[in-house]
Amino acid sequence: MDLTKIKFIFFRKLGGENFIMFKLIHGDCTKELEKLIKNNIKVDLTITSPPYDNLRNYNNNLKWDFPTFKKIADQLYEITINGGVVVWIVNDAVINGSETGTSFKQALYFKEIGFNLHDTMIYAKNNPVPNAKTRYQQGFEYMFVFSKGKPKTTNILYEPRHNKYDDKRTFRQDKQFNRTFKGEHLRRNYKYKENVPKRNIWYYSLGLNGTTRYKDAFNHPAIFPEKLAKDHILSWSNPGDLVLDPFMGSGTVGVMCLENNREFIGVEIVEEYYNIALKRCKEYQSKLI
Ligand SMILES: C[S@@+](CC[C@H](N)C(=O)[O-])C[C@H]1O[C@@H](n2cnc3c(N)ncnc32)[C@H](O)[C@@H]1O
Repeated sequence: MDLTKIKFIFFRKLGGENFIMFKLIHGDCTKELEKLIKNNIKVDLTITSPPYDNLRNYNNNLKWDFPTFKKIADQLYEITINGGVVVWIVNDAVINGSETGTSFKQALYFKEIGFNLHDTMIYAKNNPVPNAKTRYQQGFEYMFVFSKGKPKTTNILYEPRHNKYDDKRTFRQDKQFNRTFKGEHLRRNYKYKENVPKRNIWYYSLGLNGTTRYKDAFNHPAIFPEKLAKDHILSWSNPGDLVLDPFMGSGTVGVMCLENNREFIGVEIVEEYYNIALKRCKEYQSKLI
Protein backbone atom coordinates (compact mmCIF):
# COMPACT_ATOMS: atom_id res chain seq x y z
CA MET A 1 0.00 0.00 0.00
CA ASP A 2 0.96 3.66 -0.38
CA LEU A 3 2.73 4.53 2.84
CA THR A 4 3.82 8.01 1.78
CA LYS A 5 0.99 9.79 3.58
CA ILE A 6 1.26 7.78 6.76
CA LYS A 7 3.07 9.84 9.33
CA PHE A 8 3.67 7.14 11.87
CA ILE A 9 4.00 3.43 11.61
CA PHE A 10 5.65 0.92 13.81
CA PHE A 11 5.61 -2.76 14.43
CA ARG A 12 5.22 -4.20 17.88
CA LYS A 13 6.70 -7.58 18.67
CA LEU A 14 4.13 -10.12 19.81
CA GLY A 15 6.58 -12.84 20.78
CA GLY A 16 8.41 -15.31 18.58
CA GLU A 17 8.71 -13.97 15.06
CA ASN A 18 5.30 -12.31 15.10
CA PHE A 19 4.77 -8.57 14.81
CA ILE A 20 1.70 -6.40 14.77
CA MET A 21 1.31 -3.44 12.48
CA PHE A 22 0.24 -0.06 13.76
CA LYS A 23 -0.54 3.02 11.63
CA LEU A 24 -1.69 6.49 12.56
CA ILE A 25 -2.80 8.59 9.61
CA HIS A 26 -3.26 12.34 9.66
CA GLY A 27 -6.02 12.97 7.12
CA ASP A 28 -9.67 12.94 6.18
CA CYS A 29 -11.08 9.46 6.71
CA THR A 30 -13.34 9.64 3.64
CA LYS A 31 -10.21 9.92 1.49
CA GLU A 32 -8.03 7.63 3.58
CA LEU A 33 -10.59 4.82 3.63
CA GLU A 34 -10.81 5.06 -0.17
CA LYS A 35 -7.05 4.49 -0.38
CA LEU A 36 -7.12 1.58 2.05
CA ILE A 37 -9.92 -0.03 0.03
CA LYS A 38 -7.97 0.43 -3.23
CA ASN A 39 -5.03 -1.32 -1.54
CA ASN A 40 -7.26 -4.27 -0.63
CA ILE A 41 -6.93 -3.71 3.10
CA LYS A 42 -9.62 -5.57 5.06
CA VAL A 43 -10.55 -4.81 8.64
CA ASP A 44 -11.83 -7.23 11.28
CA LEU A 45 -13.27 -4.65 13.63
CA THR A 46 -14.03 -0.92 13.62
CA ILE A 47 -14.58 0.89 16.90
CA THR A 48 -15.36 4.53 16.42
CA SER A 49 -17.22 7.56 17.61
CA PRO A 50 -17.90 10.10 14.84
CA PRO A 51 -18.76 13.78 15.40
CA TYR A 52 -22.27 13.87 16.93
CA ASP A 53 -24.58 16.22 15.01
CA ASN A 54 -21.79 18.79 15.29
CA LEU A 55 -22.34 18.76 19.07
CA ARG A 56 -18.74 19.83 19.42
CA ASN A 57 -16.92 22.08 17.05
CA TYR A 58 -13.63 20.25 16.60
CA ASN A 59 -12.48 22.42 13.76
CA ASN A 60 -14.38 25.06 11.83
CA ASN A 61 -13.72 23.41 8.49
CA LEU A 62 -15.08 19.97 9.38
CA LYS A 63 -17.99 18.89 7.24
CA TRP A 64 -20.28 16.45 8.98
CA ASP A 65 -23.65 15.95 7.32
CA PHE A 66 -25.76 12.98 6.34
CA PRO A 67 -24.21 12.51 2.85
CA THR A 68 -20.73 12.48 4.45
CA PHE A 69 -21.94 9.93 7.01
CA LYS A 70 -23.40 7.76 4.21
CA LYS A 71 -20.12 7.80 2.32
CA ILE A 72 -18.24 6.59 5.41
CA ALA A 73 -20.83 3.91 6.20
CA ASP A 74 -20.57 2.60 2.60
CA GLN A 75 -16.77 2.56 2.87
CA LEU A 76 -16.95 0.72 6.19
CA TYR A 77 -19.11 -1.94 4.56
CA GLU A 78 -16.55 -2.39 1.83
CA ILE A 79 -13.50 -2.49 4.07
CA THR A 80 -15.00 -4.88 6.66
CA ILE A 81 -14.29 -8.61 6.22
CA ASN A 82 -17.22 -11.01 6.14
CA GLY A 83 -18.03 -11.67 9.78
CA GLY A 84 -16.37 -8.39 10.81
CA VAL A 85 -17.95 -5.92 13.22
CA VAL A 86 -18.42 -2.14 13.39
CA VAL A 87 -19.07 -0.54 16.79
CA TRP A 88 -20.61 2.90 16.18
CA ILE A 89 -20.78 5.06 19.32
CA VAL A 90 -23.10 8.04 18.95
CA ASN A 91 -25.60 10.39 20.50
CA ASP A 92 -28.02 13.07 19.34
CA ALA A 93 -27.92 16.81 19.77
CA VAL A 94 -31.01 18.61 21.07
CA ILE A 95 -32.06 21.18 18.46
CA ASN A 96 -35.03 23.50 19.07
CA GLY A 97 -36.04 21.40 22.04
CA SER A 98 -36.02 18.08 20.17
CA GLU A 99 -33.45 15.31 19.98
CA THR A 100 -32.41 14.98 16.35
CA GLY A 101 -32.77 11.20 16.13
CA THR A 102 -29.64 11.12 13.94
CA SER A 103 -28.27 8.10 15.83
CA PHE A 104 -31.29 6.02 14.77
CA LYS A 105 -31.21 7.37 11.21
CA GLN A 106 -27.59 6.28 10.98
CA ALA A 107 -28.32 2.86 12.48
CA LEU A 108 -31.10 2.28 9.95
CA TYR A 109 -28.81 3.33 7.10
CA PHE A 110 -26.19 0.79 8.22
CA LYS A 111 -28.93 -1.86 8.00
CA GLU A 112 -30.09 -0.60 4.62
CA ILE A 113 -26.63 -1.13 3.10
CA GLY A 114 -26.41 -4.72 4.34
CA PHE A 115 -25.05 -4.65 7.88
CA ASN A 116 -26.75 -6.75 10.48
CA LEU A 117 -27.70 -4.81 13.65
CA HIS A 118 -26.19 -7.35 16.02
CA ASP A 119 -26.88 -5.42 19.22
CA THR A 120 -27.95 -1.96 20.38
CA MET A 121 -25.80 -1.45 23.43
CA ILE A 122 -25.64 1.39 25.92
CA TYR A 123 -22.56 3.22 27.16
CA ALA A 124 -23.79 4.42 30.57
CA LYS A 125 -21.89 7.06 32.53
CA ASN A 126 -21.48 6.70 36.29
CA ASN A 127 -20.73 10.41 36.60
CA PRO A 128 -22.15 12.36 33.62
CA VAL A 129 -21.55 16.10 33.36
CA PRO A 130 -24.71 17.89 34.59
CA ASN A 131 -26.19 19.90 31.72
CA ALA A 132 -29.96 19.39 31.59
CA LYS A 133 -32.50 21.65 33.26
CA THR A 134 -35.80 20.69 31.64
CA ARG A 135 -35.21 16.99 30.97
CA TYR A 136 -33.49 14.13 32.77
CA GLN A 137 -29.75 14.20 32.84
CA GLN A 138 -28.19 12.62 29.75
CA GLY A 139 -26.46 9.60 31.23
CA PHE A 140 -25.76 7.37 28.21
CA GLU A 141 -24.73 7.06 24.58
CA TYR A 142 -25.63 4.42 22.00
CA MET A 143 -23.16 1.74 21.00
CA PHE A 144 -24.58 0.14 17.84
CA VAL A 145 -22.84 -3.14 17.09
CA PHE A 146 -23.14 -3.98 13.38
CA SER A 147 -21.84 -7.13 11.76
CA LYS A 148 -21.24 -8.03 8.14
CA GLY A 149 -23.10 -11.32 8.12
CA LYS A 150 -22.81 -13.41 11.24
CA PRO A 151 -20.07 -12.06 13.55
CA LYS A 152 -17.01 -14.31 13.34
CA THR A 153 -15.86 -13.49 16.88
CA THR A 154 -18.09 -13.23 19.94
CA ASN A 155 -15.95 -13.56 23.05
CA ILE A 156 -18.68 -12.77 25.55
CA LEU A 157 -17.28 -11.05 28.66
CA TYR A 158 -18.27 -11.95 32.20
CA GLU A 159 -18.93 -9.82 35.26
CA PRO A 160 -19.89 -10.40 38.91
CA ARG A 161 -23.55 -11.17 39.59
CA HIS A 162 -25.67 -8.05 40.02
CA ASN A 163 -28.37 -9.32 42.30
CA LYS A 164 -30.19 -12.31 43.68
CA TYR A 165 -32.08 -12.85 40.42
CA ASP A 166 -28.84 -13.76 38.70
CA ASP A 167 -28.74 -16.79 41.01
CA LYS A 168 -32.21 -17.90 40.03
CA ARG A 169 -31.75 -19.25 36.55
CA THR A 170 -34.12 -22.04 35.74
CA PHE A 171 -32.76 -25.40 34.69
CA ARG A 172 -33.96 -24.70 31.14
CA GLN A 173 -32.14 -21.38 31.01
CA ASP A 174 -29.01 -23.07 32.30
CA LYS A 175 -29.19 -25.69 29.59
CA GLN A 176 -29.70 -23.06 26.93
CA PHE A 177 -26.85 -21.08 28.39
CA ASN A 178 -24.55 -24.10 28.32
CA ARG A 179 -25.27 -24.60 24.66
CA THR A 180 -24.54 -20.99 23.85
CA PHE A 181 -21.34 -20.50 25.81
CA LYS A 182 -19.55 -23.80 25.38
CA GLY A 183 -16.59 -24.67 27.57
CA GLU A 184 -16.99 -22.04 30.23
CA HIS A 185 -20.07 -23.75 31.69
CA LEU A 186 -18.13 -26.87 32.62
CA ARG A 187 -16.29 -24.97 35.32
CA ARG A 188 -19.34 -23.04 36.47
CA ASN A 189 -21.93 -23.75 39.07
CA TYR A 190 -24.77 -21.26 38.96
CA LYS A 191 -25.83 -21.92 42.52
CA TYR A 192 -22.69 -20.21 43.77
CA LYS A 193 -21.32 -16.72 43.46
CA GLU A 194 -19.59 -16.95 40.14
CA ASN A 195 -19.51 -14.54 37.25
CA VAL A 196 -22.31 -14.19 34.72
CA PRO A 197 -22.23 -12.90 31.12
CA LYS A 198 -22.17 -9.11 31.00
CA ARG A 199 -25.41 -7.35 30.09
CA ASN A 200 -25.48 -4.99 27.14
CA ILE A 201 -25.50 -1.84 29.27
CA TRP A 202 -21.89 -1.03 30.11
CA TYR A 203 -21.09 1.42 32.91
CA TYR A 204 -17.94 3.50 33.05
CA SER A 205 -16.61 6.22 35.33
CA LEU A 206 -15.35 9.29 33.54
CA GLY A 207 -12.52 11.72 34.21
CA LEU A 208 -8.86 11.29 35.11
CA ASN A 209 -8.18 7.66 36.14
CA GLY A 210 -11.69 6.71 34.94
CA THR A 211 -11.61 7.56 31.23
CA THR A 212 -7.81 7.29 31.16
CA ARG A 213 -4.75 7.99 33.32
CA TYR A 214 -3.17 9.87 30.41
CA LYS A 215 -3.70 13.57 31.27
CA ASP A 216 -2.90 15.00 27.84
CA ALA A 217 -5.79 13.06 26.29
CA PHE A 218 -8.14 15.53 27.99
CA ASN A 219 -6.93 18.20 25.57
CA HIS A 220 -9.41 16.48 23.25
CA PRO A 221 -13.01 17.47 24.13
CA ALA A 222 -14.74 14.12 23.53
CA ILE A 223 -12.74 11.08 24.54
CA PHE A 224 -14.33 7.79 25.52
CA PRO A 225 -12.96 5.46 28.23
CA GLU A 226 -10.03 3.15 27.48
CA LYS A 227 -11.92 0.35 29.22
CA LEU A 228 -14.86 0.75 26.81
CA ALA A 229 -12.51 0.36 23.83
CA LYS A 230 -10.83 -2.63 25.48
CA ASP A 231 -14.14 -4.36 26.24
CA HIS A 232 -15.18 -4.11 22.57
CA ILE A 233 -11.75 -5.19 21.32
CA LEU A 234 -11.87 -8.30 23.50
CA SER A 235 -15.49 -9.06 22.58
CA TRP A 236 -15.34 -8.82 18.79
CA SER A 237 -11.74 -9.59 17.81
CA ASN A 238 -8.81 -11.90 18.51
CA PRO A 239 -5.08 -11.15 18.95
CA GLY A 240 -3.50 -10.23 15.62
CA ASP A 241 -6.80 -8.95 14.11
CA LEU A 242 -6.86 -5.54 12.41
CA VAL A 243 -8.88 -2.82 14.15
CA LEU A 244 -9.82 0.54 12.56
CA ASP A 245 -10.80 3.87 14.09
CA PRO A 246 -11.56 6.36 11.29
CA PHE A 247 -12.31 9.13 13.85
CA MET A 248 -9.33 8.44 16.07
CA GLY A 249 -9.38 11.60 18.23
CA SER A 250 -6.85 11.20 21.05
CA GLY A 251 -6.01 7.60 20.07
CA THR A 252 -7.98 5.71 22.75
CA VAL A 253 -8.69 2.69 20.53
CA GLY A 254 -5.05 2.67 19.40
CA VAL A 255 -3.54 2.38 22.87
CA MET A 256 -5.95 -0.42 23.76
CA CYS A 257 -4.93 -2.24 20.56
CA LEU A 258 -1.29 -1.96 21.65
CA GLU A 259 -2.14 -3.39 25.05
CA ASN A 260 -4.17 -6.23 23.58
CA ASN A 261 -2.00 -7.16 20.60
CA ARG A 262 -4.31 -6.09 17.82
CA GLU A 263 -3.16 -4.40 14.62
CA PHE A 264 -4.47 -0.87 14.25
CA ILE A 265 -5.17 1.83 11.69
CA GLY A 266 -6.35 5.19 13.03
CA VAL A 267 -7.28 8.33 11.06
CA GLU A 268 -7.64 11.82 12.51
CA ILE A 269 -8.23 15.00 10.54
CA VAL A 270 -7.30 17.67 13.11
CA GLU A 271 -3.53 17.92 13.44
CA GLU A 272 -3.65 18.91 17.12
CA TYR A 273 -5.60 15.74 17.99
CA TYR A 274 -3.50 13.60 15.68
CA ASN A 275 -0.43 14.78 17.59
CA ILE A 276 -2.03 13.88 20.93
CA ALA A 277 -2.75 10.37 19.60
CA LEU A 278 0.75 10.02 18.22
CA LYS A 279 2.43 11.02 21.49
CA ARG A 280 0.05 8.90 23.54
CA CYS A 281 0.64 5.77 21.45
CA LYS A 282 4.42 6.23 21.43
CA GLU A 283 4.51 6.65 25.21
CA TYR A 284 2.19 3.67 25.70
CA GLN A 285 4.30 1.55 23.42
CA SER A 286 7.49 2.41 25.29
CA LYS A 287 5.84 1.52 28.61
CA LEU A 288 4.76 -1.84 27.22
CA ILE A 289 8.29 -2.57 26.03
C1 LIG B 1 -15.89 11.96 19.02
S1 LIG B 1 -14.27 12.33 18.53
C2 LIG B 1 -13.44 10.78 18.76
C3 LIG B 1 -12.77 10.67 20.11
C4 LIG B 1 -12.03 9.36 20.33
N1 LIG B 1 -12.94 8.23 20.39
C5 LIG B 1 -11.19 9.43 21.62
O1 LIG B 1 -11.47 8.65 22.57
O2 LIG B 1 -10.30 10.25 21.68
C6 LIG B 1 -14.41 12.46 16.79
C7 LIG B 1 -13.08 12.82 16.09
O3 LIG B 1 -13.26 12.71 14.68
C8 LIG B 1 -12.45 13.68 14.05
N2 LIG B 1 -12.95 13.84 12.67
C9 LIG B 1 -14.06 14.52 12.26
N3 LIG B 1 -14.21 14.40 10.92
C10 LIG B 1 -13.17 13.62 10.49
C11 LIG B 1 -12.78 13.12 9.21
N4 LIG B 1 -13.47 13.42 8.10
N5 LIG B 1 -11.69 12.33 9.13
C12 LIG B 1 -10.98 12.00 10.24
N6 LIG B 1 -11.29 12.46 11.48
C13 LIG B 1 -12.38 13.25 11.60
C14 LIG B 1 -12.60 14.91 14.96
O4 LIG B 1 -11.54 15.82 14.78
C15 LIG B 1 -12.60 14.25 16.35
O5 LIG B 1 -11.30 14.22 16.88
